[in-house]
Amino acid sequence: MKTILWATLSANGNYAQSSPENPPKKEALDDFAKHAKAAGNFIVGRRTFESMQGNNGGGGGPFGALDIVVVSRVAGDIPGATVARSPQEALDYLQQKGYQHALIGAGAELHNAFLGQGLVDELIFNVAPVLEGKGYNLLIDKENYRYKNVELLNVMPLGSGVVQMHYAVSR
Ligand SMILES: NC(=O)c1ccc[n+]([C@@H]2O[C@H](COP(=O)([O-])OP(=O)(O)OC[C@H]3O[C@@H](n4cnc5c(N)ncnc54)[C@H](OP(=O)(O)O)[C@@H]3O)[C@@H](O)[C@H]2O)c1
Repeated sequence: MKTILWATLSANGNYAQSSPENPPKKEALDDFAKHAKAAGNFIVGRRTFESMQGNNGGGGGPFGALDIVVVSRVAGDIPGATVARSPQEALDYLQQKGYQHALIGAGAELHNAFLGQGLVDELIFNVAPVLEGKGYNLLIDKENYRYKNVELLNVMPLGSGVVQMHYAVSR
């Protein structure tokens, strides 16, 4: 099973946070929905999942038909989703269900856990035309300066100034 980490970045390379002042671009949201539908699933951090539920009024919204895995160390059962205690447990669950791809859909803390544990095969970064002040970063190592080369597979404009970069990560 191939793991694909999907994220929207700001033009200055931060991990974009959505807020009333900086709502996500429709092009980026549509792109996430496209990839989630193609994978049949997505993995999400507990905090991001809760904000998605708030935005959908608590229902399944456009993702109701998908296998949603919420990663949390403490959450109990969540209706409409499967709870995994770690990134690896989330992948094991999707792997045993026979999926070809696992889409890792956010947020910053969970993305960094997947990156730090070397569990990512591909990256899809949508760069939004916005500069951010204080914010989150995506990191492969929180303690040390370290670099890892990635292979650029594709670059594609999505409209409204959003540019998608698709990379392969060697494990
Ligand atoms: N740029 C983008 O593409 C994008 C997409 C979506 C969201 N966002 C932004 O991301 C932000 C939310 O991200 P966040 O970092 O606050 O939260 P998050 O990553 O969505 O969720 C964090 C929670 O996930 C669980 N978790 C994380 N790592 C774990 C691990 N290694 N093992 C077990 N559980 C783990 C923990 O849940 P428990 O506390 O329950 O144990 C943790 O509190 C928001 O600002 C949102 O706007 C950005």
